Amino acid sequence: MSGKRNIVLCGFMGCGKSTVGSLFAGKSGRSFVDMDSYIEKSVGKSVSAIFAEDGEARFRALEREACEALSRKSGLVIASGGGTLVRRENAELLRRTGVIVLLDVPLAELQRRLANDTARPLLQKPNRNAVIEELLGQRLPLYRSAADFAVDAGAAPAEVVRSILAALGEGG
Ligand code: S3P
Repeated sequence: MSGKRNIVLCGFMGCGKSTVGSLFAGKSGRSFVDMDSYIEKSVGKSVSAIFAEDGEARFRALEREACEALSRKSGLVIASGGGTLVRRENAELLRRTGVIVLLDVPLAELQRRLANDTARPLLQKPNRNAVIEELLGQRLPLYRSAADFAVDAGAAPAEVVRSILAALGEGG
């Protein structure tokens, strides 16, 4: 395989994987792939519709297939979903051809960013802040063990991009 190694952005819902990822792709000469959009295109329905009509297990199977397909490519910036890198097999697939970067955002900032979200099925529950806190507590150690390194992503997207470029030794 030739071309630049993939960069896989990992982290909780609302941490900026898609925003930072599309900006970072432009700056680093890679193509941007949002994994949720990739799955939506492949099955012709939204993530919400997949959860509602087919169940979360079906979504997770599609997510694994996406990891498999994308790990066969190079030169990509991949914004994973918030649950993707929680699964070790996905991390193993994506690590074959990519560097995994955790976008680390404090709990209170995630709660603020996600307060009005209507698109993410896992958050459409009462006590949203408690759901976020519990899920983040479970997932953060898994994200940390999947990631090659973490960057502070509470900052503005352009600054996060600079931190990633610097950490990769690609400028910035
Ligand atoms: C999920 C996060 C979502 C999406 C799906 C499940 C999760 O992606 O994949 O709703 O399990 O955290 P984002 O992190 O891009 O919101």
